[in-house]
Amino acid sequence: MRRITKAVFPVAGMGSRFLPATKASPKEMMPVVDKPLIQFAVEEAVAAGMTDMIFITGRNKRAIEDHFDKAYEVEAELERRGKLDLLSTVRDILPKNINCIYIRQPEALGLGHAVLCARPAVQNEPFAVILADDLIYSARPAIAQMADSYDAVGCSILGVEDVPREQTGSYGIVRATNLEDSLVHVDGLVEKPSPETAPSTLAVVGRYILTPRIFDLLEKQPPGKGGEIQLTDAIETLLQEESVKALRYNGIRYDCGSKFGFLKATVSYGLMHPETGPEFSLWLNALLTANRPNGSNNNAS
Ligand code: UTP
Repeated sequence: MRRITKAVFPVAGMGSRFLPATKASPKEMMPVVDKPLIQFAVEEAVAAGMTDMIFITGRNKRAIEDHFDKAYEVEAELERRGKLDLLSTVRDILPKNINCIYIRQPEALGLGHAVLCARPAVQNEPFAVILADDLIYSARPAIAQMADSYDAVGCSILGVEDVPREQTGSYGIVRATNLEDSLVHVDGLVEKPSPETAPSTLAVVGRYILTPRIFDLLEKQPPGKGGEIQLTDAIETLLQEESVKALRYNGIRYDCGSKFGFLKATVSYGLMHPETGPEFSLWLNALLTANRPNGSNNNAS
């Protein structure tokens, strides 16, 4: 069995839920405190031992390439000013052994199509897919936990978590019999079912380990929901041919593709950040106190 060394980052979506912020710059460059979402995603793959980062980009995504490139002017200026901490923050964004590959998705035809665009770089190997807008906080990176499962069972692994039943309509939901296990054998997938018809509350999130067979299926996949080539549809076909499992990873996920999720991530990471945490915590407490019905403290401004 091959180790997973390639991670695919589809970053060619419109990001329409964050307009106008995403009019001219990519959603994946939005920072949580001081680090863009795409850097969190790449760090997760690097921490899982992956070495080839394959970005599927579209229009307005140049900032992502620039972010992982050398920034001569910025580095020279920081060096001149003696700001060595900041210099290493900018210079060491990626370890030296990491390759970045950029592939253009000519048209935003859907997540499935974006993954298919990675085929020339991935070729005939199992690979990871990471959606940067699902930011997952965990001791061991979620994709590393999934790669461990892949090493153990050798089939495609979907990252899943339990969601409240009223939210099943926002996710691909797993149909399975051994639902209480942490590694679940997937019998089927239902795209965005209503709470009444959902076969479970186990939702697929933005982490996948896939076998290369998915590329053949994506090539034949007609557009599905929203007229887009859906990755979920191709996975449904895949599981009729191969075993597919779903891992309940350990971690807290922030859906940074939505405004509420992004705000939650910003607050949580702001509280944990060594530079902002203590002061932010005081301010937040004061703000909450001031906004309680009987609150008298008005320090939060
Ligand atoms: P989303 O469904 O979140 O779409 O895509 P979006 O365009 O990014 O955001 P909204 O819904 O308009 O606000 C899920 C992931 O798939 C990528 C996106 O970049 C995101 O990471 N994607 C989607 C592509 O790379 N290409 C596509 O054609 C569609």
